[in-house]
Amino acid sequence: GSTTSGTQQTQIVAGTAPGFQPFEMMQDGELVGFDVDLLEAVVERADGYTLQRWEQYEFGSLIQALTTDKIDTIAAGMTITEKRKESIGFTNPYWDANQALLVREGSSFQPQSLEDLAGHTVGAQSGTTGESLIQDLIDEGTLKQSNYNAYPKYPLAVSDLENGNIDVVVIDTPVAETFVDNRDVVVSATVDTGEQYGFGVRQNDGDLESALNSGLQAVRDDGTYADLTEKWFAS
Ligand code: ARG
Repeated sequence: GSTTSGTQQTQIVAGTAPGFQPFEMMQDGELVGFDVDLLEAVVERADGYTLQRWEQYEFGSLIQALTTDKIDTIAAGMTITEKRKESIGFTNPYWDANQALLVREGSSFQPQSLEDLAGHTVGAQSGTTGESLIQDLIDEGTLKQSNYNAYPKYPLAVSDLENGNIDVVVIDTPVAETFVDNRDVVVSATVDTGEQYGFGVRQNDGDLESALNSGLQAVRDDGTYADLTEKWFAS
């Protein structure tokens, strides 16, 4: 949890879940990515707060880490959803995304919609919005539970896709694009979900939420946000 130092700076701990390129990933043993650079720049401009360190969790454990004070903010390409807002708060949005259907390069299976997944084997990362789309298909009887494989990290799902163990991965569009560039996979269609990423904060931590929102505005105004977008997303 956060601690206050003598200079009245509150030290905060940020949590993330690498394996979600280019937002957060490990490179030569180091945690890097758009979220890492963005949150660091935002906290530098957030009055009264200093970033002490990063902690890594599985994506599905981040909300609990936040609500139990192990971390003070989540920077993990996390979509702002009504469901999550029942347990945590979010800053203003900093990124827009949709979901992509990722298939093997050269695959004859080219799903054009979620309904096309019926009868096929589907993968996603545990605890994600991609998983909840799949859960909806299971709940409505379109997909069998046994045809869904949940993975702790998206790169493992993509490896299983390349190996032919599964037929499709449901994953955020910007991350799908990175896998298309680096692995033997293609996007067969996108599903318009209109998701927005925000930094997660505890519901009772309105001070941090406001400070991060001011920091977000500041990085947009001073060109840092545009520079980081260029750094991590320019092809
Ligand atoms: N945007 C999606 C969600 O909020 C996926 C986020 C996955 N992030 C990660 N760092 N693995 O559920």
